[in-house]
Amino acid sequence: MIILDKENKLITLHTENTTYQMKAGAYNVLLHTYYGPRLPGGDLSYLLRAKERGFSPNPSEAGSDRTFSLDTLPQEYSTCGVGDFRLPSIELELPNGSRTADLRYVDSEARRGKYALDGLPAFYGGEEEWETLSVLLVDEAAQVEVELLYGVLEKYDLITRAVRVKNRGNGTIRLCRCASLCLDFIRSDLDFITFNGAHVMERCPSRAHLRPGVQSVGSVRGASSHQHNPFVILCDRDANEDYGLCYGAMLLYSGNFLAEAEADQFENSRLVMGLHPYQFCWTLEPGAVFTAPEAAVVCSPSGFGQMSRQFHRGIRRNLIRDPWAGRRRPVLLNNWEATEARFDAERLISIAKEASQLGVELFVMDDGWFGARNNDRAGLGDWVVNEEKLPGGLGALVPRVKKLGMEFGIWIEPEMVNEDSNLYRAHPDWILRVPGREPSRGREQLVLDFSRSDVREHVYGQIKAVLESAHISYIKWDMNRSLTQVGSAALPADRQGEVCHRYVLGVYEFAERLRRDSPGLLIEGCSGGGGRFDGGMLYYTPQIWCSDNTDAIDRLRIQYGTSFCYPVSTMGAHVTAVPNGCTGRVTPLETRGVAAMHGTFGFELDPGRCTREEKETARRQTAFFKEHYDLIQNGDYYRLSDPFQNGPYTAWEHVSPDRREALVSLVTGTAHAAAPLLTLHFKGLDPALCYQVNGEGSWSGDVLMKAGWPLPIPSGDYQAFQFYLKAD
Ligand code: DGJ
Repeated sequence: MIILDKENKLITLHTENTTYQMKAGAYNVLLHTYYGPRLPGGDLSYLLRAKERGFSPNPSEAGSDRTFSLDTLPQEYSTCGVGDFRLPSIELELPNGSRTADLRYVDSEARRGKYALDGLPAFYGGEEEWETLSVLLVDEAAQVEVELLYGVLEKYDLITRAVRVKNRGNGTIRLCRCASLCLDFIRSDLDFITFNGAHVMERCPSRAHLRPGVQSVGSVRGASSHQHNPFVILCDRDANEDYGLCYGAMLLYSGNFLAEAEADQFENSRLVMGLHPYQFCWTLEPGAVFTAPEAAVVCSPSGFGQMSRQFHRGIRRNLIRDPWAGRRRPVLLNNWEATEARFDAERLISIAKEASQLGVELFVMDDGWFGARNNDRAGLGDWVVNEEKLPGGLGALVPRVKKLGMEFGIWIEPEMVNEDSNLYRAHPDWILRVPGREPSRGREQLVLDFSRSDVREHVYGQIKAVLESAHISYIKWDMNRSLTQVGSAALPADRQGEVCHRYVLGVYEFAERLRRDSPGLLIEGCSGGGGRFDGGMLYYTPQIWCSDNTDAIDRLRIQYGTSFCYPVSTMGAHVTAVPNGCTGRVTPLETRGVAAMHGTFGFELDPGRCTREEKETARRQTAFFKEHYDLIQNGDYYRLSDPFQNGPYTAWEHVSPDRREALVSLVTGTAHAAAPLLTLHFKGLDPALCYQVNGEGSWSGDVLMKAGWPLPIPSGDYQAFQFYLKAD
């Protein structure tokens, strides 16, 4: 609910459990008054106190009032160079050379429905569930308008933010920073949690007290990155899964981003999140508008679990788009870990035959099917079927797979090119490069300039022809290197600071076109695993390959970290062969299956190399996953333990929205003699209902949550157990 009190310039947003408020105070400076547990309303600006502070300047309109300072009062969208020395949200270079921004409140409007952002991903939904607030700020001296947009999805406590900047003057303005979210708090006794890692070890949570000064994570790699995820949390220092105030903030963006938290001199704090200002500069000619990507925040007054469940619901129902928002995704088998690029049609068919016996519904042909792609040094850019490997092309192969009762999917990496390719030989100027420097290679590939529509058009044409050559129902869209020497031959020197963002907009345009031209096509995002796992890509690709690390035990950590923001239905997860290629670890097949059920579930091995018992296990797991698909993919998710604590087990739980069903999954660590006998407390059940556990007995939800469930004693390392609960 949005309440506009125009007379007092007071704006209040209510969600089911939270309240957010701002007020245009003296001199029309838009102050942030409150964000936290839901309140009845009223003017909360009494919480803000103006006090004279040394070296905190006062706006000129304040005359001799030395107490009003931009440097000390909480701002709704911070400015720069005019008295607030904390993190800026916006930085402008004006025609006169000054780099200042001073914004004042002018007006606000509220309406039902959700705003959309041209060419950018955004949460969506109908008028019955969303409200939009638009707040107009103006910098009169700069002749710049800033529109702050807010979307309110009450039932999930989700508030989205976006920003539009318009040059309404006669001169050219350069926008050097434009954050999507600024959130001020009149306290700094908070923890800052970020999700960090590397290729094959993504999104590991790191938690630390907010310290005086600025702490930040971000990416300057051109993609949101394996190293830091565009999702962060600020929370009470004692917040845990079930207790404490926490604020999660995600950026729906797949390129360079920056998330900064600052504790200031008076123990206030500020979170700013948006496009990374590194090498960014956008030219705004008179009349031009720049739109910053969307951010979304959830405040949970009762711990991380509730915060995650609200994000999961919002992402599943208001970010992932039809037809895959509600539709069951197929169980797939991908050939990559079985064959890499060394395959031909007969090898694929032999794997596909075995896959079909397991209950697999989609066969995915990974990297290696096109051009001269026999290894990773050649072929990228030539999206033409390699008929030496696949005689007769996909027109011959796909019907054979479909005859086995499975759909067919392919791998692509549209943004990249190998020097050893026809595309590069014909268009060496189509790559990202800067004059006078040789481009760096990554995995021996170069990056196509996706900021250019002619480059995208060419690649799209080739891929479209492949899609039209056979019935293809799935695409895995990969991206296997970071961007360097980011320059475009198609833009003038003074617009090179736009290339990185234009590249991401190009990726979004390409993805949107694929969706539009091939309705029903399921696209799985991927960037060497989870190097572009973000809310931006999820708008186009309902699932993303979570990591190239498929070791079941490492996956428990990666998937745990990922789950703080993203639902399990978005996490690509497969059962692979052992010893695992990343870790050399051998885990039981049962355990690999249970770990993969913390995601979209599928296989990435040659079932022909499995024993009869292993095939039977895989068949049983596939059937189990399909049977409980709704519960796992659309249920409420609970983290029952933290795998980073190296405790005796990792456990998680899915509970159906009506709380009549639950599935608890658990994987043990290394075995030890004389181990304690453990009890696990379930969560999220209905205390008043009685449940059967794995088809037996009848225990009240209250008992299972408070007294717990005795765990079986594992024999050996890395054992998996599942408990299916059904209400009587
Ligand atoms: C990286 C991906 O993450 C893998 O799953 C696989 O598709 C390879 N690329 C293929 O080159």
